[in-house]
Amino acid sequence: MSELVRIVNGALRLDVDKVRNYTAFLAQKLEAAGELAAAERLRKVLEENDHQLRPTDARFPRALPVDSESRFPLVEHIKVSKLHEPPVQLTQAQWDVVHEFVSVAKSHGSIADNGELSGALSFLMYGPPGTGKSRLARYIAHELGLELYVARLDGLISSFLGSTSKNIRALFDFAAKTPCVLFLDEFDAIAKVRGDHQEMGELKRVVNSFLQNLDTLGRQSIVLAATNHENLLDAAVWRRFTYRLALTLPTGDQRQRMWSDFLKPLEFSERDFALLGDLSEGFTGSDIREASARLRRKQVATGVAPGLKEAFPIVVNLATDAEGSRFASILAGKESSAMVHVLRERDERLYSLAVIADLLGVSKATVHRLSKKEGDEHGD
Ligand SMILES: Nc1ncnc2c1ncn2[C@@H]1O[C@H](COP(=O)(O)OP(=O)(O)OP(=O)(O)O)[C@@H](O)[C@H]1O
Ligand SMILES: [Mg+2]
Repeated sequence: MSELVRIVNGALRLDVDKVRNYTAFLAQKLEAAGELAAAERLRKVLEENDHQLRPTDARFPRALPVDSESRFPLVEHIKVSKLHEPPVQLTQAQWDVVHEFVSVAKSHGSIADNGELSGALSFLMYGPPGTGKSRLARYIAHELGLELYVARLDGLISSFLGSTSKNIRALFDFAAKTPCVLFLDEFDAIAKVRGDHQEMGELKRVVNSFLQNLDTLGRQSIVLAATNHENLLDAAVWRRFTYRLALTLPTGDQRQRMWSDFLKPLEFSERDFALLGDLSEGFTGSDIREASARLRRKQVATGVAPGLKEAFPIVVNLATDAEGSRFASILAGKESSAMVHVLRERDERLYSLAVIADLLGVSKATVHRLSKKEGDEHGD
């Protein structure tokens, strides 16, 4: 029904692209619901009335909006239906927000418009780099069965205010014509206009035009935004997002599950995943994915299945960069005897002598000897 409203709306405004895109979308929905004959009829109408030259392979023929100066595309199309990614790991409280948003988004377009719920439905994700904001955007688009268009806002802001406004309009015009999830990445870029233009008035105008566009986009549009610098966003922008989610560093359990998901084809045991989960305290999901990719590459290069002995130095190496990792960073650059002491002190049951032998790739007897040696753990 909501598609029908959009199609009529597009027709009355003589917006052929909008009519075509939403008709194709409706046909797809009808087909999914088993209404094959109706879907077929709609597609036939589309085909018979195609007066312009269009790419025949595209499901929804559409041209991407471009920067008014450089003519580079302002958005990137991510085909989420073709992606097969390991699951997203979130806390229960975070999932609650995501699930609520997804279920509201599914019914949003069909709720009768009583005036209170106008404008696009919007969701703001914020948190440190690598904690899964972009990943979650793909998850949401996939759940909604919609195409994902990613606009990097820093690319849209030009040093010419006029071009910036044109770009914002082009972006929202595009989103209004197309059933999609529009993902505004690097969203804090709109707050940086202040620095570039010196003048507060200009920032206000850009921000206001943004908010207005968001409101006129209409009820069926879904807008996601992500930022690492939520403190840069002003209160009006912040308030415009009804749903907001703080992404955080993964917990021990989540890290363990990520290792298990990301290392999938490799042969590690549940105990190994528990160890890796503990050793990677302070890592982001992105760090764990990176470490896993290195291990998989190693397998390809050497033809030998890597184990804990290969994983450990990669984890220690990455830990030096992970800000939240106090434990793992003291491991970095230490002598073996000091490492044995650090691990034993952390958790004697998890880090048994046999486990440490596996990690360091030495014999149990050696670990035993190292653990007896008065370590330099209290030094430096
Ligand atoms: N919570 C998570 N669950 C599952 N995978 C994750 C999670 N966080 C990160 N990842 C993995 O790390 C990759 C990179 O994360 P992503 O690009 O989503 O981070 P981001 O928060 O968007 O970072 P940035 O702020 O730098 O854009 C993801 O594609 C995914 O494979
Ligand atoms: Mg991102």
